[in-house]
Amino acid sequence: MRQPSAGKEPLAVGARSGVRIRVARGGDAPDLVELYRQHVEYHQRLARYYEVEPGFDWLAFARERILGRDRAVLLADREGTLAGFLYVRITAYPQRVRRRLRFRFWRRPSPGLPIRPLRWGIIEDCFVAEPSRRQGIGAALVSSAGAWLAERGVQRVELSVLTANSGANEFWGRMGFAPFRVTMWSGGEGDATSRGG
Ligand SMILES: CC(C)(COP(=O)(O)OP(=O)(O)OC[C@H]1O[C@@H](n2cnc3c(N)ncnc32)[C@H](O)[C@@H]1OP(=O)(O)O)[C@@H](O)C(=O)NCCC(=O)NCCS
Repeated sequence: MRQPSAGKEPLAVGARSGVRIRVARGGDAPDLVELYRQHVEYHQRLARYYEVEPGFDWLAFARERILGRDRAVLLADREGTLAGFLYVRITAYPQRVRRRLRFRFWRRPSPGLPIRPLRWGIIEDCFVAEPSRRQGIGAALVSSAGAWLAERGVQRVELSVLTANSGANEFWGRMGFAPFRVTMWSGGEGDATSRGG
């Protein structure tokens, strides 16, 4: 897998917002952490299961997302200040697992359902800082993620959104996404549906 171009060329330039979308570099980790904190706070208001562990290593988390394999953090950069980000990764079915025998490694597909092998993209997080919303930045991030995946031969993209997050549901609909699977749950804390929105 080719690594992303580490932010040399913008992936898109927002006409309405004046931001450029670029791939994050290791040095962006501290600024990304600030946006991730806002992202988690936003979701904590919608669902109680968003919890931050005391002492959570945000920097290590951000670096892993920026530098890991088959993934990219796309940043909306407004003259050096970050207005938003999107984290996208590529996954595959069936998963290939590593097993160890003596000193050798080999990989083979894990047994799974009779579904044809698939490679698809997952948009895990997408966040635009509040003052910068409704300027087309989210749309620019999503279209750049599509371009980043297409360059790697991936067309299909999936994501999850809380039902209580009505604005985001509208946004994803406008971006051409439609529900195809419903995640259900019962019991315990974190009733997203009780938070309204
Ligand atoms: C969802 C989010 C990423 C959208 O980013 P954004 O930069 O404001 O989105 P855009 O300006 O590109 O919006 C494109 C279109 O989506 C729709 N849209 C976006 N936000 C909307 C909202 N809150 N309510 C209704 N429609 C919305 C509109 O049709 C909009 O076009 P318009 O402004 O010309 O009417 C942003 O609101 C956000 O970060 N929210 C908090 C975090 C979050 O919910 N992330 C998604 C988790 S799944």
